[in-house]
Amino acid sequence: MKLSISFSKKDTQGHDTIVVGVYEGGRLSDSAKELDKSAKGLIKSALKGHKNFSGKQGQTLCLSANKGDLVRVILLGLGKAENLDAISLETLGGKLFGALKACGAEKVSIHLDGVKGSKDVKAADIGARLALGLRLKSYFFDKYKSKKDDKKDGKLSKVLVVGDEATASKKLFDTYSAVSEGVFLARNLVNEPPNTLYPESYAEIIKKELKPLGVEIDILDEKKMHKLGFGALLAVGQGSIRESRVVVMRWNGASKAKSAKAPIAFVGKGVTFDTGGISLKPGAEMDLMKMDMGGSAAVVGAMKAIAARKAKANVIGIVGLVENMPSDRAYRPGDIITSHSGKTIEVLNTDAEGRLVLADILTYLQDTYKPETIIDLATLTGAIMVALGFEYCGAFANDNDLWNKIEKSSKNTGEKFWRMPLDEAYRKEMESEVADLKNLGSLGRYGGACSAAGFLEHFIKDGTKWAHIDIAGTAWWKSDKPTTPKGGTGFAVRTLNDIVAENFEK
Ligand code: BES
Ligand code: ZN
Ligand code: ZN
Repeated sequence: MKLSISFSKKDTQGHDTIVVGVYEGGRLSDSAKELDKSAKGLIKSALKGHKNFSGKQGQTLCLSANKGDLVRVILLGLGKAENLDAISLETLGGKLFGALKACGAEKVSIHLDGVKGSKDVKAADIGARLALGLRLKSYFFDKYKSKKDDKKDGKLSKVLVVGDEATASKKLFDTYSAVSEGVFLARNLVNEPPNTLYPESYAEIIKKELKPLGVEIDILDEKKMHKLGFGALLAVGQGSIRESRVVVMRWNGASKAKSAKAPIAFVGKGVTFDTGGISLKPGAEMDLMKMDMGGSAAVVGAMKAIAARKAKANVIGIVGLVENMPSDRAYRPGDIITSHSGKTIEVLNTDAEGRLVLADILTYLQDTYKPETIIDLATLTGAIMVALGFEYCGAFANDNDLWNKIEKSSKNTGEKFWRMPLDEAYRKEMESEVADLKNLGSLGRYGGACSAAGFLEHFIKDGTKWAHIDIAGTAWWKSDKPTTPKGGTGFAVRTLNDIVAENFEK
């Protein structure tokens, strides 16, 4: 059941659970003081009895309060006010969600009167970000479970956030809520198994999700792509019984005056399953390669967020959807293929397929739409995980100003981006002796994320601002995080949306 979250200045709903904040050291927030008074010292005496609850940020303590409908009071540790910023409020919301589920809460009122955050956080954002954390953590994927697990879903159905800033908080949260729909779509797409999510079915889902929101959709089928000469993308897909697709999404939200400006474009790798092809991957954990369309999911999710909140900007999304399979028809190591740009590519490893898919759609995008800025996203290399693990994605940008924008939005959303180098040497490394380029660098795995970016740079036209984001380590998490349940993360949806909001709508 979708968690309903509303805002009010006064607590008007019936509830079985009330949440109040306690600062580090056991100092009560205004609403905690008030509740303590009306409940005859319940909170103060509980704090004396539970020495391991000190109000540290993220701690929770559940107290029973059999007072009419009210079954329990939850104390939420706020930490120190100066450390309570927007991202830690989201984390707090995520942790609170866990505590509410664990104690079986159904209808909850969160009392935030007088709660103060750090100087960087707007008063109205306190309730809104806390609610966003709850919403983001409430996601689960049980589509293929015949028996729906009660514990997963929880009983939690209604949350009311109570505080003086309710009206402004609701306004902020409406936008966050639209964006979280984009995050959930991206997570759903990544979690969907590869026997049901393949290029054709994926293209149809994109249409079904985005067209009703006013996004224009073009689907290129194989016939069209043959005509256009998408030799690189089609080579990757040719081993699969499933036909390849490219989907273009256009959101035209800018005013007439601003529409003359070149748009921003997002590009996504959508390998619905990556076996490695003839250069077959090892068997262990190959199932995880259903997430090799995580870049495209981030683009589709971001387009949904942007359209759902009716962004005043023109944004283009393009995704290349293929399945990388070994078969008698599959492309081989040694093949030389001709990309849509005309550049020939020597295939040295059929598992380095993502860059081939991106090469063709990057060229098509620039020729057709002449975007001012391009950001591509891809689960491109295992090497980025060697470099950065699962915490940060790697960001390669050919423009400092674009990097600054990405970094700022990354700080706004808490999705972590780390800048990686582009260099002439990496570009050179991808030149072949028998074709224009090769798809595997001369140094093999050493610097593999950088040489992959170097390969892509060959397909970026002079003067185009471009960033390549390698999300191989962040599109799928094997364990829960405060606002992200394990599995598909929807990583980068929020940052892409924020980049548009901060730079392309004003
Ligand atoms: N899809 C993989 C990269 C990947 C690995 C994503 C692990 C998510 C988790 C990509 O297509 C790939 O196989 N890359 C190769 C490139 C190599 C052959 C140059 C890699 O990283 O090993
Ligand atoms: Zn691969
Ligand atoms: Zn891949």
